Amino acid sequence: MARTLAAGNWKMNGDAGLMDELATLAAHQGEDGPDVLICPPATMLAQAVAATKDSRVAVGGQDCHAAASGAHTGDVSAAMIRDTGASAVIVGHSERRADHHESNADIRAKAQAAWAAGLLPILCIGESEAERMGPDTLDIIAAQLDASVPDGATGETLVIAYEPIWAIGTGRVPTLEQIVETHDMIRARLVARFGDEGDKIRILYGGSVKPTNAAEIFTAKNVDGALVGGASLKASDFQPIIDAL
Ligand code: G3H
Repeated sequence: MARTLAAGNWKMNGDAGLMDELATLAAHQGEDGPDVLICPPATMLAQAVAATKDSRVAVGGQDCHAAASGAHTGDVSAAMIRDTGASAVIVGHSERRADHHESNADIRAKAQAAWAAGLLPILCIGESEAERMGPDTLDIIAAQLDASVPDGATGETLVIAYEPIWAIGTGRVPTLEQIVETHDMIRARLVARFGDEGDKIRILYGGSVKPTNAAEIFTAKNVDGALVGGASLKASDFQPIIDAL
């Protein structure tokens, strides 16, 4: 496991043609460098695992149900994701929190389900634009973090992604000062709760990360990588972000 991680979230985009893009990305990774993860739609997980076989690119899901199995039409369990050969899963993305009314408690349960299935959860938190404009931004993010992360997290079993909702897909990015302040707060909180392990938990920044701004964002001490949406769809966009780590 590398200290840094470049994770791509394809969201509800792509088709089988994107597997060529993924194979290109996989072939491009050297022996060293950050961990690289791609999270395609659930229907493409097995193909993505095949396209990245024997490479340093890992594959993850975008969401899992908190239950192991049962009457949940249209949902996918963590074990089903693991069964495809994937090794990680995003939980608590703001698009899931908004579109599917997922609460912090739901996300905590999903992270635990991921652990039970042997998956690494990439757990997302982040404020709305109104919350960023208000006086309690850091308190709001801290409360989300505390309530979403289950007890017992370690550097090997959890990744946090800080994604300001207003920066996702908008081309707007917080100032470096805001990123530093927020990631430092998250780190301090993780260390206060999990001791040395809290220091090892990787904290990603997400929201309009591009080849043009990645290097500056990665100068922040407690930014251990990125969760990238749009710019992860093309190897030629994602690779410079990986190389900036
Ligand atoms: O999961 C990824 C984030 O929502 C960021 O998306 O890079 O397209 O802004 P974006």
